[in-house]
Amino acid sequence: MAKFNFLFCSVLFHILLSPVLTQSAPESALVTQIPGFNGTIPSKHYAGYVTVDESHGKNLYYYFVVSENKPSEDPVVLWLNGGPGCSSFDGFVYEHGPFNFEAAKTKGSLPTLQLNPYSWSKVSNVLYLDSPAGVGFSYSKNESDYRTGDKKTASDTHTFLLKWFELFPEFLSNPFFVSGESYAGIYVPTLASEIVKGIEAGVKPNLNFKGYMVGNGVTDEVFDGNALVPFAHGMGLISDDLYEEVTAQCHGNFYKPLGQDCAEKLAKVDEDVSGLNIYDILEPCYHGMDTEKDLASKIRLPSSFLQLGTTERPLPVRKRMFGRAWPLRAPVKEGIVPTWPQLSNSNSVPCTDDEVATVWLNDKTVRKALHTADESVVSRWDLCTDNIIYSHDAGSMINYHKNLTSKGYRALIYSGDHDMCVPYTGSEAWTRSLGYKIINEWRPWTSNNQVAGYTQGYEKNLTFLTIKGAGHTVPEYKPRESLDFYKRFLNGLPF
Ligand SMILES: *[C@@H]1O[C@H](CO)[C@@H](O)[C@H](O)[C@H]1NC(C)=O
Ligand SMILES: *[C@@H]1O[C@H](CO)[C@@H](O)[C@H](O)[C@H]1NC(C)=O
Ligand SMILES: *[C@@H]1O[C@H](CO)[C@@H](O)[C@H](O)[C@H]1NC(C)=O
Ligand SMILES: *[C@@H]1O[C@H](CO)[C@@H](O)[C@H](O)[C@H]1NC(C)=O
Repeated sequence: MAKFNFLFCSVLFHILLSPVLTQSAPESALVTQIPGFNGTIPSKHYAGYVTVDESHGKNLYYYFVVSENKPSEDPVVLWLNGGPGCSSFDGFVYEHGPFNFEAAKTKGSLPTLQLNPYSWSKVSNVLYLDSPAGVGFSYSKNESDYRTGDKKTASDTHTFLLKWFELFPEFLSNPFFVSGESYAGIYVPTLASEIVKGIEAGVKPNLNFKGYMVGNGVTDEVFDGNALVPFAHGMGLISDDLYEEVTAQCHGNFYKPLGQDCAEKLAKVDEDVSGLNIYDILEPCYHGMDTEKDLASKIRLPSSFLQLGTTERPLPVRKRMFGRAWPLRAPVKEGIVPTWPQLSNSNSVPCTDDEVATVWLNDKTVRKALHTADESVVSRWDLCTDNIIYSHDAGSMINYHKNLTSKGYRALIYSGDHDMCVPYTGSEAWTRSLGYKIINEWRPWTSNNQVAGYTQGYEKNLTFLTIKGAGHTVPEYKPRESLDFYKRFLNGLPF
């Protein structure tokens, strides 16, 4: 079977040679124009659905950006945003997609799109997936599917990948990686584990899986739960006195306060940090047009959630983010994980300014161009949805990471070091706890001749890496540095 480089595959050839070319990318999925973008799309883009459960009519939506470099050789990288409940268009619009989105001057008009010089499609084929069903443009005709969890999500995504590669077989031999951030700290290792089980069982098609990458990822209740206090102390957000008191009272166990004294000290820590932007402590907190009082009456969340996320992108991105995290130390225990809209106890999320993505993805012409389901099926796109009831049922990710790295899969655990939502202190501690030999001792790494963060390399191709000054959604804050570490990781180069 010929491997087809579809870059050279014109529509004419397609007609003439269609028996052969049914083996390559489906032309019906080709995105031919992008509303808001006035120029030539720098590589092929495809978008559409893959049915992962015929009997339920369960359909997952993907957007595939072909590499602008060497599509037939560059890795294929799956990208997943977290939540649970958040669409991976978050990554596409705000983090590492091919375009920078500039809000329209008049409210409600389409944004203007310009090319993003730091798009991850500069060096890889990027597959954005809305997952699980019920999120973004993905849906099921059987609503019982909207009650789901880690294990089901991983097996559905694996099914998706097998079917997707059948549609795009010319990419099967490319190196394949899985990546994501925040709650995708659960999605990525659980999916990787399904993929590896499939490979070992000889499931076809055979995925050329090489490794995975997790950014500010949820991993383990104890490590993540214990991360805030040392972070707050190291960043100068709480006093030495309080740090010593809380450590003594809680015996270093901050994730599950045992006793009144410990709980009181933790409440003091929370009070000290509660006015900060949880996603990036250096950034101001966005309070929008509402007064503090109005907001307090609308929500029951710490004010740290009403935030301003800024970026070094050439264009303004958004004023704040929501839905990708949880109140301080509340998160991710076994059982139901609340989505943001569920947490905020309201359908209208206060001070939300995710306008660019929301306007663009709810525009009729955009939806048509992006091959999304009819509005009668998916009525609107939300950055993060409360359509799903999601259960954390896979436990700690530590054994997943152990198993995957022991089998030779390359792993990068990266962390924006000013994120207080999933602080680097937790990721640094759990990677260290694996007990792997350090083969590349803690040192700065550089981008553009500047220190861009710190890294420690372990045996078994496991790397921990920080991005200095970045918040929760690293490529949003540090696009140039992100493209640099991303490229090095994919190529197996030192950081
Ligand atoms: C689009 O590009 C063309 C040619 O470069 C230019 O003439 C036109 O003014 C542009 N339109 C917008 C809306 O930017
Ligand atoms: C939806 O799926 C559930 C579980 O498989 C099944 O019991 C139910 O009959 C389905 N509902 C419809 C309308 O098909
Ligand atoms: C890790 O591997 C061991 C040994 O094969 C297995 O018993 C265990 O279930 C695996 N754990 C995970 C989380 O994959
Ligand atoms: C680490 O990755 C390189 C290729 O990038 C590979 O040659 C090597 O075998 C891997 N090491 C381990 C311990 O898996």
